[in-house]
Amino acid sequence: MRKAIVTGAAGQDGSYLCELLLDKGYEVHGIVRRTSSGGETRLTHLEHDPNASGRFFLHHGDQLDTGRLVQLLSKVEPDEFYNLAAQSHVRVSFEIPESTVDVTGVAPLRALESIRLLGLETRFYQASSSEMFGSTNPPQNELSPLHPRSPYACAKVLAHHLTVNYRESYGLHAVSGILFNHESPRRGENFVTRKITKAVSAIVRGEQQHLFLGNLDAKRDWGFAGDYVEAMWRMLQADSPDDFVVATGEAFSVQQFCDLAFGHVGLKWQDYVRYDARFERPAEVDHLLGDASKAKAILDWTPTVSFEELVTRMVDADLQSSDKSVVDLTTEHNDAHSHS
Ligand code: NAP
Ligand code: GDD
Repeated sequence: MRKAIVTGAAGQDGSYLCELLLDKGYEVHGIVRRTSSGGETRLTHLEHDPNASGRFFLHHGDQLDTGRLVQLLSKVEPDEFYNLAAQSHVRVSFEIPESTVDVTGVAPLRALESIRLLGLETRFYQASSSEMFGSTNPPQNELSPLHPRSPYACAKVLAHHLTVNYRESYGLHAVSGILFNHESPRRGENFVTRKITKAVSAIVRGEQQHLFLGNLDAKRDWGFAGDYVEAMWRMLQADSPDDFVVATGEAFSVQQFCDLAFGHVGLKWQDYVRYDARFERPAEVDHLLGDASKAKAILDWTPTVSFEELVTRMVDADLQSSDKSVVDLTTEHNDAHSHS
């Protein structure tokens, strides 16, 4: 039975990836922070899944704790290691740049160096990001210049180069997946897509009147997270380690997202969305649009969920959710008390 370690297992991608690996017959070891916010909701179904019984293990661990990492690596000796944990919110990274660089940029080095020093044959996946392209003109592919525009993106550039460097220097089977934005009903509530779909459902229920947003003109290449974890897995199955862009090849603005999400329930976004400068960033990334032809050619990977389907799935999931715990979406969870 193949074994995998997944850091950030309680995050959006971590939960989909654990599911995928369990479906493929792996023994899966997820690492979560003891204080993790997402674990209870995103992983509970797997902890109680009889098909995963005896094959799914959760371990407490922190990206800052090398000793714990070495202990888990030595104990599990995984075939594959997926490094997904990160402080992954771009605007928050302007508020806590130092810890973001440590968790998001330096921690992958801890994992790479530990795998190397332990002499493991573990294949390593680094969750790199289209944010690394920053202000580089679209479309962006594996050869496009990197121009990061936030501490988060700078940290991802560091981790990306370290991954490539450990491959070239020590022959580690290390790959960097440069993934464009991917969303789902499990998306964290302070990312713009989920913030919008949660607000639409709260407005429909009469629990909220307005939605406060920042820049509506930014364009993103939005895909479905379930498709993107499949690409991660395919990258590690390839014979030789390489770097891949994963994207849909279509970009839409935040305003277009609002238009579809509100339109899906028969509302006009203009009647509800209000501008709030708190949600702007000191430096914005205006236009991300990925060219994933290399992933298609080598990994035979293509996205299966269209933008429209993604938006409607997310709105429908929030409408169906009975969780009314986060209804004050006139402010944004985590964003509410901050200024940039
Ligand atoms: P996410 O939902 O924010 O998940 C990140 C996970 O990392 C969370 O579960 C978080 O745990 C954990 N984490 C944060 N700090 C940690 C620490 N010090 N020690 C241990 N765990 C820690 O992000 P995601 O959307 O699933 O993304 C997964 C990865 O892909 C991230 O590295 C992200 O930067 C990258 N990425 C994401 C996208 C995207 O569009 N989703 C695109 C490109 C790259 P808590 O629950 O404790 O906070
Ligand atoms: N979060 C947020 N909240 N974003 C807003 C808001 C708001 O109220 N109003 C407008 N936006 C704009 C942001 O300025 C940005 O241009 C866009 O919406 C998307 O913001 P996010 O959803 O926060 O995602 P992101 O693109 O900054 O970062 C995500 O994608 C990256 C890949 O490109 C994250 O998942 C990163 O971890 C990931 O690497």
